[in-house]
Amino acid sequence: MDAADWDRKYEGRELVYGEAPNATLVEVATTLKRGRALDLASGQGRNAIWLATRGWTVDAVDFSSVALTKASRVAASAPRSVRERLTWVHADVTQLSTEPNYDLVLMFYLHLPPDERRTAVSTAVSALKPDGILMILGHHTANIESGIGGPQEAEILYTPEDLASDIGSRLTVLTAENRYRDVTGGTAIDALLLASRSPLGSKRDRG
Ligand SMILES: C[S@@+](CC[C@H](N)C(=O)[O-])C[C@H]1O[C@@H](n2cnc3c(N)ncnc32)[C@H](O)[C@@H]1O
Repeated sequence: MDAADWDRKYEGRELVYGEAPNATLVEVATTLKRGRALDLASGQGRNAIWLATRGWTVDAVDFSSVALTKASRVAASAPRSVRERLTWVHADVTQLSTEPNYDLVLMFYLHLPPDERRTAVSTAVSALKPDGILMILGHHTANIESGIGGPQEAEILYTPEDLASDIGSRLTVLTAENRYRDVTGGTAIDALLLASRSPLGSKRDRG
């Protein structure tokens, strides 16, 4: 789907993915010291806004202007201090150049053909500070056969091993595993990768 397709999808409904943050993000981010985060393919901002309410400063990037308009509308009801920590960036993540400024980089449910996915992963890797954490979550390839929902084109789905292979030796893998989500009608299967540049992995235990 290109940006126009996503704009149409977001125009149809108020909040396609709801307002609540992703549960795996909540689980992981609550173990991290807050800092600066980059949310690649941020959609309508559910994760970026939640991070900002927890004190993170967040740059949220998406190529759908409709999604970003809705995200800033949702954020408008947040306290001013939260809004001031959020920056909405209209850009294609496969053409983004980033500086290594971020403590946490998210890429959630971004499903692209493998070459483009690898480009986006490289962008994410290059945005990390030396001890930053990369968190990628998306619909698992096995979701077509054994799960529920999500895109039904195998080419744009992935496994944790695909993601680990995408980052190669640039980062240390902290977690590469399947995640299971109870949804209406069954259980969805996700692929999760957590990785860090630092071999010790991080700020995760520093509170
Ligand atoms: C399934 S939604 C996920 C949104 C958000 N990460 C979440 O979990 O709620 C996928 C998002 O990726 C965005 N997207 C797809 N390809 C993109 C690209 N090349 N550059 C920037 N955004 C992209 C779409 O506009 C859409 O908002």
